[in-house]
Amino acid sequence: MTIALVTGGNRGIGLEVVRQLAQNGMTVILAARDLAKAQESAAALAAEGLSVLAKAVDVSDGESVKRLAADVEAEFGVLDVLVNNAAAYVDWSETASVADIDSVRAVLETNLFGAWRMSQAFLPLMRKSAHGRIVNVSSGAGSHGDMQFGLTTNGGASASYGVSKAALNGLTSKLAAELASTSILVNSVCPGLTATAPGMEAMGARPVSEGAKSVVWAALLPDDGPNGGFFRDSKPLAW
Ligand SMILES: NC(=O)c1ccc[n+]([C@@H]2O[C@H](COP(=O)([O-])OP(=O)(O)OC[C@H]3O[C@@H](n4cnc5c(N)ncnc54)[C@H](OP(=O)(O)O)[C@@H]3O)[C@@H](O)[C@H]2O)c1
Repeated sequence: MTIALVTGGNRGIGLEVVRQLAQNGMTVILAARDLAKAQESAAALAAEGLSVLAKAVDVSDGESVKRLAADVEAEFGVLDVLVNNAAAYVDWSETASVADIDSVRAVLETNLFGAWRMSQAFLPLMRKSAHGRIVNVSSGAGSHGDMQFGLTTNGGASASYGVSKAALNGLTSKLAAELASTSILVNSVCPGLTATAPGMEAMGARPVSEGAKSVVWAALLPDDGPNGGFFRDSKPLAW
């Protein structure tokens, strides 16, 4: 049995990643900060015949993360795949010169420290897996090479979100280097512009099934797959 865990699994890309991992035969823990929402989403997938169970986690809360890790250890004793998908953002017009630092900190608390504390909490369980995979769901917004939404575009808008994703990519590099001699692969993935909010199709966003596929690819990598990379649709992205 392969056990996967997806944060922010109750909606959007996270929910579809849960579905696709389960369709690949995994038992998937759908983790959301609101347990009722997790249960509702998990029940809908279970009704499709998929092996999905609901758990609560707020990745910005260290105690909540520790509780979940203890719970998963007691129930499964191992974790094979961790998808750090949960993310927060401020309004997209936010620029660095005037950003409210408390809001910036809140974004980093989820997008960077959330993924970091989830990785720390679950690494002991992932070291027990023969094929551990950590997927940090990042964004072209954190890239110097993305000329549409990247760090150097749009007059610096989406400042804290872009900085958080660049920092998340840094975490991917550091963790991957540290774990290079283990069977755990750590990668960052951008799902591409994906329609998870009203009106996004009009901006050219693609369906969640495609955004999620980009993420799931990194969870299904073979043992000789890449480690410490940044990808979209299985192709390397510039940092
Ligand atoms: N959509 C895109 O075009 C796009 C493009 C590039 C990258 N991405 C990345 O892809 C991922 C998913 O994006 P999305 O569009 O599906 O996002 P979304 O629709 O905004 O959903 C975000 C998810 O994260 C959860 N979340 C937020 N803060 C959390 C916390 N502290 N603890 C636990 N869960 C938390 C939300 O839970 P609640 O339901 O409780 O709010 C929700 O489930 C994100 O990492 C995003 O940065 C998305």
